[in-house]
Order: sequence, then C-alpha cells, then structure tokens
Amino acid sequence: MNNLQNKSALITGASSGIGRAMALSLGLRGCELYLIARREDKLLEVQAEIKKLNSHAKVHLIVSNIKAPDLPEKIAQASRQNIDILINNAGLALGREKVEDSLFEDWEEMINTNIMANFKLVHLVLPWMMTNGGGDIINLCSVAGHYTYAGGAVYCATKHAVKAFTRVLREETCGKNIRVMQISPGMVDTEFSSVRFRGDKNAADAVYANMTPLQSEDIARMMTFMLEQPRHVVIDEIITMPTDQGSPTTVSRKNP
Ligand SMILES: NC(=O)c1ccc[n+]([C@@H]2O[C@H](COP(=O)([O-])OP(=O)(O)OC[C@H]3O[C@@H](n4cnc5c(N)ncnc54)[C@H](OP(=O)(O)O)[C@@H]3O)[C@@H](O)[C@H]2O)c1
Repeated sequence: MNNLQNKSALITGASSGIGRAMALSLGLRGCELYLIARREDKLLEVQAEIKKLNSHAKVHLIVSNIKAPDLPEKIAQASRQNIDILINNAGLALGREKVEDSLFEDWEEMINTNIMANFKLVHLVLPWMMTNGGGDIINLCSVAGHYTYAGGAVYCATKHAVKAFTRVLREETCGKNIRVMQISPGMVDTEFSSVRFRGDKNAADAVYANMTPLQSEDIARMMTFMLEQPRHVVIDEIITMPTDQGSPTTVSRKNP
C-alpha cells in the first residue's frame, strides 16, 4: 500500500464538491495540503473541518483563480517546489444551449479553466516531481470525456481534451515513477449544476430529481483508493456513474 502520510498534495477546486471531499480524505490520512479556490470563506471552512478530523494536519490555503498569472509563483513559494500529489479538479460547465445559441465567453471560461489552467499546473509541478523522484497526478475528466450530448459541445470537448492530455502524459512519464491517472464521473451531487445553470436552483435540482446521484465522498474514496495502491500499480482511469445512470442522457427516475 502507498502510505499517504506526510505526502504533499495540491488540490484545485477544494472549496466545494469533489475537491473539498478529497481535501478531507487526504487531510485525514496526514497529507500536507495546498488547497486552491477563489472563495476564501469556503476554504477556511474546509480547513477547519480537516483540523477537526486531524488536529496535526498542515493545511495551506491559496486563495486564487486558477487562471491567475501569479498562481505558479504562489504555489512554488508555498510548497517550496515539493508536490507529491496533484489533484487537477477545478472545472465547470456553463449552459446547456446548442452551439449556435451559446456564448463565446462561456466557451472561453470552460476552455481556459478545464483545459488551459489545469494543463499549466501539470507543466508547473511535473518537473518538481521528476526532481523529487516521483509523484501522482489525478486529472478530473468526466463521462463527458467519453460520450457526447446535445447542449454540451464545449464542455464535452474540454473533457475529451483532458482525456487525450492524460493519455499522452502517461506515455511521456513512463519509467519516471510518475503515476498519471484520471477519474471520469457521471452525475455527482455538487455545486456543478448550480454553476452550470447560473444559480437557477430549480434547474439544478431537476438534474438530480427522483434519482440517486453519486456524492463527492464516493469520488474522493475512489481517488484515495487509486493513490493508496502500491507504487508499482497504476489505475489508469475509473469511469463511474450512479446506478441510476446508464449514460449522460439515460437516467432512471422514479415517479415522485
Ligand atoms: N458534479 C458532476 O456531476 C461532475 C461529473 C463529472 C466531472 N466533474 C468534474 O469534477 C470537477 C469538480 O466539480 P464539482 O462537481 O466538485 O463542482 P463544484 O462543486 O462546482 O466545485 C468546483 C470547484 O472548482 C473551483 N473552481 C472553479 N473555477 C475556478 C477557477 N477559475 N479558479 C479556482 N477555482 C475554481 C470552485 O471553487 P471557487 O468557486 O471557490 O473558486 C470549486 O471549488 C470539475 O472538473 C467537473 O468538471 C463533475
């Protein structure tokens, strides 16, 4: 088993949902954490929760947009270029409009966050991992990186890009003690749909109505399982959906 105690882990999007659950899981296991998100109040809540689970936990907060040009310098300074685990999680979908009705600014936000910002973090920490003798990277993909659905062209395109990037990275790092992994969830009950529908609670609630979605803790448990495998084992990818979901567009809903 790969012991996570005292490993340093950088988690993007740690203020909510999957990133928050992963911060709690790794904090409980004694990782030194570097947590990134824009909402400081939410990050402080996560920090306090981790300290409740593990009073010795070292939790560093980096309050920043992951697209900010000064973020690499902040991470380098805070971590002293020592990152064992990168959880490349921050991301979003915006809107469910068809291509011709959707907004360029939404496309740019998704592409610059889900693709550019996450890829740049790999570019930043990978040389440190190689210098330090190894490391683990988990990229948050999605079933939208494997399937496509109407109204999700650019979001699906960003997650297909994550899948391609992950595969190339795995080839390029082979033999360097870097484990490159990916997880591709279906429906997880987080702030994801509320962000996608710009705070429209009814639209967000309808996504998870009368079915049982995955919870953030389910994804964190699976990612922790990936990280805890002995170092000669890589779980390339986990694709996971709720039992009530057959594909992004096939969902079993019980009558209310
Ligand atoms: N929920 C699902 O059904 C689902 C399914 C498949 C894949 N995913 C993927 O899982 C990942 C996490 O999503 P989630 O479901 O946990 O959603 P979430 O609850 O909305 O969490 C998203 C996180 O990303 C952060 N974030 C977003 N844009 C950011 C930016 N520009 N700078 C810094 N932080 C940013 C948010 O923090 P702040 O707002 O505080 O900055 C938040 O902590 C995403 O990559 C998503 O595509 C989700």
